[in-house]
Amino acid sequence: MSTEPKKISLEQVTQTFRGGALSAIGGELIAVDRATFTLTAEPPQIISLVGESGSGKSTIARIILGLQHPTAGRVLYNGKNIFKLDSAEYDRYRRDVQPVFQDPYGIFNPFYRVDRVFWRPIEKFGLAKSKANGLQLIEESLHAVDLRPADVLGRYPHQLSGGQRQRVMLARVHMLRPAFIIADEPVSMLDAAVRVMFLNVLLDFREKYGMTTLFITHDLSTAYYLGGETMVISQGRIVERGRAEDVITKPAHPYTRQLIASVPVPDPDSRWTDRLEVSEQTAEVRSRSRDRCLFAERCSHVSDHCWNARPAMMSAGNAQNAACFLYGTAEHDDRAVAIAESVGGAL
Ligand SMILES: Nc1ncnc2c1ncn2[C@@H]1O[C@H](COP(=O)(O)OP(=O)(O)OP(=O)(O)O)[C@@H](O)[C@H]1O
Ligand SMILES: [Mg+2]
Repeated sequence: MSTEPKKISLEQVTQTFRGGALSAIGGELIAVDRATFTLTAEPPQIISLVGESGSGKSTIARIILGLQHPTAGRVLYNGKNIFKLDSAEYDRYRRDVQPVFQDPYGIFNPFYRVDRVFWRPIEKFGLAKSKANGLQLIEESLHAVDLRPADVLGRYPHQLSGGQRQRVMLARVHMLRPAFIIADEPVSMLDAAVRVMFLNVLLDFREKYGMTTLFITHDLSTAYYLGGETMVISQGRIVERGRAEDVITKPAHPYTRQLIASVPVPDPDSRWTDRLEVSEQTAEVRSRSRDRCLFAERCSHVSDHCWNARPAMMSAGNAQNAACFLYGTAEHDDRAVAIAESVGGAL
C-alpha cells in the first residue's frame, strides 16, 4: 500500500452525449471538455466548482464517482485509472470518495428506516465490532451534525425534513471518514440557517478529519463563504481557477466577470438569496466549432485570436489562472492590465 497522499486527478476528461434530440443539431453535445484538475487529500482542501445550469458540473461529479465513463480522458486515483481498478481497489475507492447530493431523498429507500444508511456501510466495511459499538458510532456521527439520534433513528425517510435528510447524509460521511467528499449542489434546497450549518460542517470536517471536498454549486456566494479554491466552469470548460476570494472579488476571465456582475456584489447580508442570471446556452450555440473561445460572441475584449484558437489556462496573477488570451501573449498584456484594474465595471 502506497504511503503517498491520496489524490484524484482528472486528465483531459471529456464527455460527449449523442443521439436523441441532439441529432437535429449535429448529433452531439460536449458536456465536459478536457477537464483537468487534481483533488489532494493532503493538505485537505475545499474546491468549489461553480457554473450556470447545464455547464457540466454534475457530469463531472458522476464521472469522479465512477457512475459514468468519460468519452475521453482519465480519472486517476493515486495514479490508477478508476475504471480499471480491481474489485478490492474499487471498494476502497468507493469508501474513500463519498457523494452528497442535492436532495438525498432519492438515495434513501422509502421502505427502509433511516438507520439502514448507517448499518449498510458498517456491515460492508466492517466498521464495528458489535451491534452496540455500531450504534455508538451512529450516535456519535449524528451528534457531530447536530442531530439527536431519537429524532431520526427508527424513522422512515419521508418522516424527516429535507434538512434532516441532508444532515443524515453528512452524519454518514462523518462515520465513514472518507478522504474525499463530492458534494453536488447539496445546499440549494435548504433554507439559509440550515445551509450555513451544512457549510460549517464541511469546514469542520476539513479541519478535524482532513477531508477534502469538491463542492459543486451554481451559487458564487456559497463558494465565497467556503473559501479555499474556486473553479469556474462554462459550457463544459473550466475557464478560471484561483483562491475563492480572488476569483470572486477580482475575476480574471471576462466570463467570470459577467457572471459576478449578474449577481449583487458579494455582500454578507444579501448573499444567501443571490442567484446567477446568466442565460443558458442553447444546444445550437454549443454545437458550433469549439476550436475557439466559447465566450467570444459575448466578450467585449474579443480579438481575432479568440475565434481561431482555444485559449489554454494562463496565469492571471498570484495563483489565479484563466483560459483567456488576455493573459496569454505579450501583445495582450496591456489589455490584461486594463481588465484587471476595471474591477466592478460592466463588460
Ligand atoms: N445522459 C445525458 N444525455 C444527454 N445529455 C446529457 C446527459 N446528461 C447531461 N446531459 C447534458 O449535458 C449538459 C451538462 O449537464 P450537467 O447535468 O452536467 O449540468 P450541470 O452543470 O450539473 O447543470 P445544473 O446546474 O442544472 O445541475 C447539459 O446540456 C445536459 O443537458
Ligand atoms: Mg447538476
